[in-house]
Amino acid sequence: MGKGEKLSDVRSKSNDTLPQEGFRGGQECYNLYERLMDMTDFADNIVLGDCLDLFPKVEDNSVRTMHTSPPYNIARDYEGYSDDLNEKEYLDRIKEVLSECKRTLVPGGALFWQTGYTTEQGGYIKPLDHLTFNLFRELGFHLKDRIIWRYWGGMAFKSKFTNKHETILWWVKPGVRTTKSRFDVFPVREATKFHDSRNNLFGRNPGNVWEVDRIAFGSNDQTSHIAVFPEEISDRIVLTTTCEDDLVLDPFCGSGTVCKMAKARGRHFLGFEISPLYHRESVNRVSLQARGELLSVLSEILKEHILRVGESMKLSMVAEKVNTILSPLSLEPYEKIITKPYLDALCEGREDGVKKSDKISLWKDVEEILPPVGSGRTGNDPFGLVSLVNGAYMKAYKLHKVYGSAMRFHLVARWVNSLRRALEQDRKEAWRYIVSCLVNSETGSYRQEHGRITLVSRGNRIKSDIAEQPTGKDSQREGAVPTLF
Ligand SMILES: C[S@@+](CC[C@H](N)C(=O)[O-])C[C@H]1O[C@@H](n2cnc3c(N)ncnc32)[C@H](O)[C@@H]1O
Repeated sequence: MGKGEKLSDVRSKSNDTLPQEGFRGGQECYNLYERLMDMTDFADNIVLGDCLDLFPKVEDNSVRTMHTSPPYNIARDYEGYSDDLNEKEYLDRIKEVLSECKRTLVPGGALFWQTGYTTEQGGYIKPLDHLTFNLFRELGFHLKDRIIWRYWGGMAFKSKFTNKHETILWWVKPGVRTTKSRFDVFPVREATKFHDSRNNLFGRNPGNVWEVDRIAFGSNDQTSHIAVFPEEISDRIVLTTTCEDDLVLDPFCGSGTVCKMAKARGRHFLGFEISPLYHRESVNRVSLQARGELLSVLSEILKEHILRVGESMKLSMVAEKVNTILSPLSLEPYEKIITKPYLDALCEGREDGVKKSDKISLWKDVEEILPPVGSGRTGNDPFGLVSLVNGAYMKAYKLHKVYGSAMRFHLVARWVNSLRRALEQDRKEAWRYIVSCLVNSETGSYRQEHGRITLVSRGNRIKSDIAEQPTGKDSQREGAVPTLF
């Protein structure tokens, strides 16, 4: 972790219960500026090595959530290790890993184990969740849910139906009843198909069949890795089962998707990866992600409106430009469209303050400002700010494309409130400080030298960006140290 920081310190900072109202936009916004100051004291890492060698360095009961996908033992052409063990050897290894997962998770902590199939001689297949099921049971884990990732794309089969799914078993470490283990569906509610006054204003629980595209060849998210998770999957897991500052771990970290999403949401992360190539790429990938929501959105604004790649500008000038763009920030003009009590309810993520009979007209009003994604309509956004921030959000977090208008408005409003809080402090100093935090957290995109900020990469094509990455000390700061401790 950060200078002089132990995992136990991180653990003691994480909350044991979900913050209630604040989590939805009240308290969290007020504290965000202070939290950023805290967070820069940590340096989170992806560590090169065998997870079984590295796990012993992680403290007992320190990890809130793990999301991982082990090798499938199908002789895949991974870099740096054999994916072709006999079944007993394979299961023995997985059992060792699972014991370490159990030791390091907090009681009630979640282990999302994502797998497909393994094969045996003659081409028979065995579902991996079935093969390893009893290992989890023997260790005392409780199964909370079985999520199906239903994907689009993938190779077509000739002799049977083309495979279109993987499973994610959600195991819970004993110590807290499974029904009581942490889960907050609010941040991932998705758009309902029809507006009905009985429906939740912010959308529905997405259920346990997740339809998400695979990472396509040639897409921006592609790396050299052959099994990259889509970001939406990790994002959902991080958002529903962890709070800010919690620790998220992926012992088979691959291209670093889980670590990237944990960082994007302001969680601490730790990844282990055995292959030097994947390790290097994942470190670079995570270095192109800003830490937490406020910085992620701010980064999009800098890249869209302030700096061009290769351009450098004085920190004070960047701060001034950000201030000029964002100072007029206000939700007041929206009161003309949405009545004040309902605007407050939307901003705070409260649907209890909205009369059932008014829900449909409220939906209509919000959709005038922010039409559903893919509807082809442009919004009637009186200030343009909601569109600005929303555009940044859409880029920073892909998940937002499944959100309904009310949810997107809520997210923007939460962010607007955070900024207002930050701006209430000494404006120039606040911005200077926040922009410096951004540069230090997104080391792959920005460089700061002699009081000037340079945008070195927009980070929108991971594979080609890797070749372009500067190899200097600064660009390697984010977790590039080969050992953690
Ligand atoms: C299925 S992939 C994970 C992909 C990852 N979820 C992503 O989004 O890129 C499994 C990864 O585990 C790594 N691996 C295999 N054995 C390992 C070990 N003993 N310790 C650490 N990493 C290992 C492999 O190199 C591979 O990158």
